[in-house]
Amino acid sequence: MDKKRLWEELSDSYKSRHRKSKELFDRASQYQIRGGSHNLRLFFPFPIYVVQCSGSKIRDADGNTYVDFWQGHFANILGHNPKIILKTINSYLRKGQGLINGFPDIHQVELAELILRQTEADKIRFTTSGTLATMYAIMLAKAYTKRDIVMKVGGGWHGSQPYVLKGISQYDKGLNKLESAGLPSGIDLMIVVTRFNDKEDLEEKFRNYGERIACFILEPFIGSGGFIFANRDYLQRAKELSLKYNSLLIFDEVISAFRFHPGGVHSLYRIKPDLMVLGKIIGGGMPMSAVAGREDIMALCSPEAKAEQRVKFEGGTFSAHPASILAGTTFIRYLISHDSDIYPRIGKLGAKVRKGIEEIFAQHGFHVKCTGYGNSIAENSSMVGVQFLRDGIDRITTPEQILDPEVCDVELREKVFKLAMLEEGFHIFHGYGAISSSHTESEIQASLDAVEKIAKKWRKRNIPRM
Ligand SMILES: Cc1ncc(COP(=O)(O)O)c(C=O)c1O
Repeated sequence: MDKKRLWEELSDSYKSRHRKSKELFDRASQYQIRGGSHNLRLFFPFPIYVVQCSGSKIRDADGNTYVDFWQGHFANILGHNPKIILKTINSYLRKGQGLINGFPDIHQVELAELILRQTEADKIRFTTSGTLATMYAIMLAKAYTKRDIVMKVGGGWHGSQPYVLKGISQYDKGLNKLESAGLPSGIDLMIVVTRFNDKEDLEEKFRNYGERIACFILEPFIGSGGFIFANRDYLQRAKELSLKYNSLLIFDEVISAFRFHPGGVHSLYRIKPDLMVLGKIIGGGMPMSAVAGREDIMALCSPEAKAEQRVKFEGGTFSAHPASILAGTTFIRYLISHDSDIYPRIGKLGAKVRKGIEEIFAQHGFHVKCTGYGNSIAENSSMVGVQFLRDGIDRITTPEQILDPEVCDVELREKVFKLAMLEEGFHIFHGYGAISSSHTESEIQASLDAVEKIAKKWRKRNIPRM
């Protein structure tokens, strides 16, 4: 049987079990482009419309229940709708706090103190999304250095803003293309793409463009580029080269901050960026992000900054929204006070899943490797990516490999395996996703049993291996 037939079979079965979602999708599509506002959520043939979420589970409009490893774009490290957040928000709403009021308050002070302590940054400013925060961080870097070029890595996703929409996922003998229309003219030349974890390429790019590079922005744990940690000596070299060429180093920790320990990955590696971008987990399930870093750079967004260098990192009706601040403070306090329970446990479950999936597929003749592995510095990784590899490739270490259809079967991972796992009661992302503290051992084991059932079925039906 070929993959196309398998996909059609899975789609038919999916359609028959999701009639209400289909109705909602058709209705939504009358008003919204492809029925929604975020393309990642609108998977094919149509997304499930969710009516209730709690802990590890989600329930859809048709009454199907799934164990969810997407967990709110990986933000929900304690699972969906954790009681501590619901309780906090409810109690503050009753006290007349929580909705937008347009004033600073004590909670914002406390959250700033808390995050700065955990991240060892000097100053912080809050905004509403990772996208806005990376844009502001880059504007600060451009203003501070008075330079034009932004360097990023191939496979790096920093949100949908003009300075970074190049070399993300469209593999074309490499990752180096602009990936959006509608960008300012000339932007292509203002974004230089280098290879993740490749010191030689980084050195070459700095040699060629160093005097013009305002900043090098990268994720110390790359997310959409495939769940891979940066090597320590690579980050160290990035720091040295940034210093040498007087450009700024920005760590985008939107996924990684508070995912592997209660702080940023940079503290584990003991490499301090000039600026860092935080998001997802720090909002406790609410929209929230922040730029934090060196005081002399952050000061450029002050109304007292010199006019020619002043950065309009201001405004935002909903920036530092009271409910987000309350949720974030509650969440981060909880993560700090329970860190020795949460992180080793979800890290151990991550290790079990990665090993289990590789073994199961190998037993059934499929060549599959997982990504998301921790290392000796960041041990507790709760992230799992699943890569269906071409025979003969043993290790998968770069976003280029993960995004190259000649190396990894991207369609099998993102479409077919996703529907197959949904059929078994698991909602996965990039082959699996993020484990939260709400996932139980038995749910994790059940997810491996589901993988086994699928691998067995695929072998029996002769699904072509790459
Ligand atoms: C590493 C990274 N940076 C930035 C962003 C953008 O954040 P947001 O979706 O909150 O705008 C994301 C979103 O997934 C991300 O993964």
